[in-house]
Amino acid sequence: MELMEAIGTRRSIRFFKPWKEVEGWKIQRMLQAARYASCQGNCGSTEAIVIDKKTYPAEKFEQLIECASTFNEIQLRTAPIVIAWLVNMDAWYKELVESFAVLFPARAITAAHGWTYKILTETTYPRLMSFPRDRAEDLLRVEAGQAIANSLLAATELGLGCCLLATGRKPAEFPKVLGVPENIVPLWLMAVGYAAETPGQRPRKRFDKLYHYNDYGTPLKEDPAVKEMLKESKMIQPMDPLPGREEELRHVCRMFGLREDMPDMPKEKIRALYEKDSIYYGEVPPGLEEKGV
Ligand SMILES: Cc1cc2nc3c(=O)[nH]c(=O)nc-3n(C[C@H](O)[C@H](O)[C@H](O)COP(=O)(O)O)c2cc1C
Repeated sequence: MELMEAIGTRRSIRFFKPWKEVEGWKIQRMLQAARYASCQGNCGSTEAIVIDKKTYPAEKFEQLIECASTFNEIQLRTAPIVIAWLVNMDAWYKELVESFAVLFPARAITAAHGWTYKILTETTYPRLMSFPRDRAEDLLRVEAGQAIANSLLAATELGLGCCLLATGRKPAEFPKVLGVPENIVPLWLMAVGYAAETPGQRPRKRFDKLYHYNDYGTPLKEDPAVKEMLKESKMIQPMDPLPGREEELRHVCRMFGLREDMPDMPKEKIRALYEKDSIYYGEVPPGLEEKGV
């Protein structure tokens, strides 16, 4: 799969085939993709625990489910693999000087960029080490985001589905259940498996509401020709709800013994999405009125 298509095909999967195992080599490829993500000072602070339901103690997995937000329980129950993404704060406070300095013999940075070993160890490093833990953690969460995004694209390319999962129900318990030391900050769980659903792309905010030209507030206009090219390369794909999506969801819910109702936004709020200044669609597509909106 080409990169553009992988970007366009990735989506959050919320129902998995529990009976279909995930090949170990595919998980390895996802983790390798994460390892090669960009990270400041080459710090390599993003770590992960691969939780394999085949071998993980069932009792401990129940404790993990209790840590996750309630709306994430189905993903956890149906996905055969769960990855716990972590930040290792020691990568900043104990290892950063080494991770950064390895860039010198690798000839990635030179004096031409203003870097010498002396500047790194005597000026930059003491400044970075003076950052309080919450600031350093904020920075490392960006690294983790990049690593996780790489792994999601690798998973997509391998035909796997994933969903990142918040663990807001018992945040204090989460590190204890995982059994990680003090220097490890657990971020997100990620369900990994084969999708039991085939959703379309999810709505995104308008290009011209997100991007600005020279000055903030001057919209950068979306180029329709580029959009057409991206449709051809499958980065832009048909948006949810695809035809038959509700039927698919009802069947999937029935299969798992779950409730089948489909909540909506209030009608006037849906209509507002199509108003000219809306951050979403901004124009009425053909056939909307037939849908009773
Ligand atoms: C950091 C992060 C945390 C997320 N947490 C959850 C979550 O707890 N539960 C869930 O169902 N989806 C979660 N998602 C998925 C988003 O809801 C989803 O990405 C968004 O609705 C867009 O849909 P898409 O991923 O299919 O493009 C999370 C995504 C990110 C990036």
